[in-house]
Amino acid sequence: MLKSNTNPKLLFILTGSIALYKVMNVLSHFKKLNYQIKVVATESALKFVGVSTIEGLTGEKVHVDLYENGSNMDHIHLIRWADAVVVAPATANYINKLATGIADDLASTLFLAHDFTKPFAVFPAMNTKMYQHPSTQKSIAQLKSWGVDILDSASGVLACGEIGVGRLLEPEQMITAIENLKLPVNVTKPATTAIAKAKKILISSGGTQEPIDDIRVISNKSSGKTAAQIADQFIANGFTVTYLAAETAKLPTLECEVVKYTSFHSLEEKLRQLLPLNYSTFIHAAAVSDYSVVPTTGKINSDSDELTITLKRNPKLIDLVKKLSPQTKLIGFKLTSTTDEKLITEKITKLFEVSKCDVVIHNDWASVNSLRHTFNVHSKQHPVKTNLTIDDLSQELMMEAL
Ligand SMILES: Cc1cc2nc3c(=O)[nH]c(=O)nc-3n(C[C@H](O)[C@H](O)[C@H](O)COP(=O)(O)O)c2cc1C
Repeated sequence: MLKSNTNPKLLFILTGSIALYKVMNVLSHFKKLNYQIKVVATESALKFVGVSTIEGLTGEKVHVDLYENGSNMDHIHLIRWADAVVVAPATANYINKLATGIADDLASTLFLAHDFTKPFAVFPAMNTKMYQHPSTQKSIAQLKSWGVDILDSASGVLACGEIGVGRLLEPEQMITAIENLKLPVNVTKPATTAIAKAKKILISSGGTQEPIDDIRVISNKSSGKTAAQIADQFIANGFTVTYLAAETAKLPTLECEVVKYTSFHSLEEKLRQLLPLNYSTFIHAAAVSDYSVVPTTGKINSDSDELTITLKRNPKLIDLVKKLSPQTKLIGFKLTSTTDEKLITEKITKLFEVSKCDVVIHNDWASVNSLRHTFNVHSKQHPVKTNLTIDDLSQELMMEAL
């Protein structure tokens, strides 16, 4: 099922300043946050950064030519498409052109077609003399009077070696300013860095290992791959993540706090330590053994043809979560290996009713083993969402965690 993307649509206009390289971090940031991005560049901009870099970071074609074959009405389509326009960096030339209504290329023509109910944010970047020039100052005042958001420039050492105003803001400052733009009311913003950072997320991953004797263990096939991918998305979006990982579990590629566990009992101990520490959401993706072995000390003799191991039922760790931390949003995972819908429904219902899960992610072993591992999201708040890829699932979980 194809979902329409409701994330904000940002149209970036890049102009020919030496500070253009800084904007690459900004593009990359919003791409990771799953904003929809389109890019227009002036001819001069492409003297500073290549098309391949911009396309590589955004996955989008770079629009330059007003008269390109088959794209003749881009100046109307792009500006209509956007929820907000961001000019970064904005040259003195571009700012002065906007203020006088010159429309001699795609980037400047877009402004004449702009709908002022949407934000048009301009991040100036230029030499101090160019910034302070009466022409530029007059243009800035003119644009402000029309409702254009002209962001302050920074003071500091400029590329030309002079010290003064006109310097482009740092990527983090630009990101905050863009996140704070007032978007149309029907647009939902993904996690903003500041809100996400305040949210502590605990993610359990991998499978428990139950000791049989001092050397051997019984375990399961959980790799931790799903949890690691989810953790990476949360970290990339600025959440504060603690990753509770089995010894063999795949780890996130991005940096976060990692706490290791081995057996059922060690996982229980870690949960008792961590859950009272104010986690807003716990994504419990670890595969926890339903039984532990009544252990033997030393090493079991391997000479006998048959060996009997006694297993003892474990309580459900997930049932402990809300008792330890009632305010933590609990996201449980249910892996099935059946097509029996009634049985699947029973298992999911039990997670809601007995374990007090807020959300249950169901996936089936057949899908885990296929080329396209998909997930179904069950929640009390909205109808079930089926067939989600790992990226879609991570998005859903981030929206739940905010
Ligand atoms: C090395 C170099 C760096 C430049 N940096 C800036 C700059 O930071 N700000 C600016 O306003 N112009 C800068 N310029 C001048 C612009 O590239 C020039 O005015 C150009 O016509 C701007 O075109 P555009 O506004 O269509 O992108 C620079 C030029 C060169 C050669």
